[in-house]
Amino acid sequence: MIKQVTLMLALKRYFVFTICFYLVIPAYARDAQRFFPREELITIGTFYYPEHWSESQWDRDFKNMAEMGFEYVHMAEFAWAFMEPSEGQFDFAWLDRAMELAGKHGLKVMLCTPTAATPVWMGIKYPEIYLVDANYRRMEHGTRQMSSLSSPVYQRLSYGIIAEMAKRYGNNPNVWGWQLDNEPEAKADYSPAAQESFRLWLKNRYQTIDALNQAWGTAFWSIVYSDFDQIHIPNTVTVGWWGNNPHALLDFKRFSADTQADFLDQQAKILREYISDRQFITTNYAGVHNQADPRRTENLDFPAFTSYPNSGTPNLGEQGFRQGDPDILMQDNDYYRPIAGVTCVLEIQPGQVLWGSVNPLLQPGVVRMWLWHNFAGGCRLASSYRYRQILYGVEQYFSGMKLTDGVTSSQGGKEYEQFIKEIRELRKRYRPDTEMPGELAARRTAILWSHDNLWDNQRQSQSQQWDLWSHVLKYHRILKSMGASVDYISEDDDFTAYPFLIVPAYQAVDEALVQKWKDYANQGGHLLITCRTGCKTRAGHFWEGPWAQPVTSLIGAEIIGYDMLLPNGRCQVTMEEKTYPWNNWADLLEPHEGTQVLATYSNQFYAGTAAVVTRRQGDGSVTYVGVDTDDAQLERRILQKIFQQKNIRTENYPMGVYVYWRDGFWIAVNYSSNNFMLKIPDSATILFGQRNLAPADVTVWTQ
Ligand code: GAL
Repeated sequence: MIKQVTLMLALKRYFVFTICFYLVIPAYARDAQRFFPREELITIGTFYYPEHWSESQWDRDFKNMAEMGFEYVHMAEFAWAFMEPSEGQFDFAWLDRAMELAGKHGLKVMLCTPTAATPVWMGIKYPEIYLVDANYRRMEHGTRQMSSLSSPVYQRLSYGIIAEMAKRYGNNPNVWGWQLDNEPEAKADYSPAAQESFRLWLKNRYQTIDALNQAWGTAFWSIVYSDFDQIHIPNTVTVGWWGNNPHALLDFKRFSADTQADFLDQQAKILREYISDRQFITTNYAGVHNQADPRRTENLDFPAFTSYPNSGTPNLGEQGFRQGDPDILMQDNDYYRPIAGVTCVLEIQPGQVLWGSVNPLLQPGVVRMWLWHNFAGGCRLASSYRYRQILYGVEQYFSGMKLTDGVTSSQGGKEYEQFIKEIRELRKRYRPDTEMPGELAARRTAILWSHDNLWDNQRQSQSQQWDLWSHVLKYHRILKSMGASVDYISEDDDFTAYPFLIVPAYQAVDEALVQKWKDYANQGGHLLITCRTGCKTRAGHFWEGPWAQPVTSLIGAEIIGYDMLLPNGRCQVTMEEKTYPWNNWADLLEPHEGTQVLATYSNQFYAGTAAVVTRRQGDGSVTYVGVDTDDAQLERRILQKIFQQKNIRTENYPMGVYVYWRDGFWIAVNYSSNNFMLKIPDSATILFGQRNLAPADVTVWTQ
């Protein structure tokens, strides 16, 4: 019976999916800008869990929150057990009272769907709601994020509580929007329900078992199937990682991300049946390094993210361990903002976290700097996890904006207060008619991103030194230090909105994508394609023909081989009579006639072979960087050359210093351990900070 229900639900889901696919409904089609009036710049909030505190303190807490300047509060995240204490018995009276008190103090409410933490009764009555890991161990009650998103029972109960919440609060004028779930992760799930769903997903994708056998290359090692029912999720424990079929593993990643996206989309769909159009729907993805793909959802208004820049790892310079990783907010913002044109940071640590190898005190000023960095990166709202430090439980050691007495502001809390005051000042100075300065607009660069490419790279990295994220980050860092704005975009986006496009190690392609790149260059775009691109079909097979066959005429070279060195090995590449060390990856290029060679390998038996080539294509250009270096100096020089050819001046900010422009304001932040003298014209008005930007500090000016 359950099997039948699962099957029907899954079929329904794929039917809906197929219809949507053919109607080509773009993800995030709704206009997210309307929720955030430009002149408000950024709205600041915090997480509060009324169920963690005595009700006698709620009023005081909301009052203090409002006095600190907070404008909204998140509630109900993880509170399922309190809203549905037994199956079908709902209790919202406590939440009504909390929400009313928040409203009394002028705080808007962002409600969270509570699905990340299930009540104990659920697992006792329906143990099949739990996720099963690769050892075929079923999870159990006692923590969060342990549910099988494929379980029809878990889905039914999730959609049930969401509908109840939506009916009750969907037209409450004080509810500003909804956060779905918590940090969606697209976890690997080997439960019976997931096995069933995976088979349906495959049937939908391949239609016939022959097509699947072909795509998965099952002739290799007699993996071949004669029926979809024979298929098990490729298990990285029982079948292993190395020996497992890469095509099957890639499909399992796709399936897990689709299942996650589908769960969010269904939640949003139910909410939309009841809620007012004035309430937005989002979710809080955990930074960028996770398996959930925000571009796979279709019903949300915009994606948001959570950010924890400091967990005690050594970062830049002596004070780096207190200041946090300088790349995190840079990447979070540039990755999420372009997806729907709006993004938000829903969690920023206000102090020490609890999961670092060590969790040092933060450098005073750094929380404020992170907030400004998020503002600069485009965030339209920023909230902190969490308002009060909890006195018990797993996250006892996680700092709050209030210390353990519940009323004294922590250092981070004080910095929030300062930031909020500063933003209020900034709002007064906002002018709607400002436009991005031409010099900045001329540097706009996009990085082409796809999760399918990430998974493909991760499964077959071919060298332990290869990591797609690091490869991409290298280019991203260079671009930011040159003062360029960066957007991560997808294949479906309009490339022509950017003068420069980086295509990093984009292995699987088809003719249509290569044609899109060509058209882009023909129309004047400057393409920088990096090593490994184009060597596979969309199914992940190599082309039966020359290596990376579809891209060779575009890059103007044959790729005659690839090399890599041992971890401590160093060889050189020569460009403009200067040598640069390389170690990770080297595509050996044989240029076609008319292609210009920019750099050649200096040693090994292939010394003199081309490493970087470039050619004109229509009104634009195509540069292929076949080599990946550790120190990124070669890549920096190549990008400089590309910008110089267009007579575009670039900056040279040191590592950890970022300068942004947003809504008429210039913002500089400094994650390094040294002061940096900003080149601010005398005519500029410095609003906060100074020309000589200190570590963990911020300067804001208009000019
Ligand atoms: C985040 C999570 C929060 C909280 C926080 C601190 O990853 O979304 O709910 O757990 O970490 O540990």
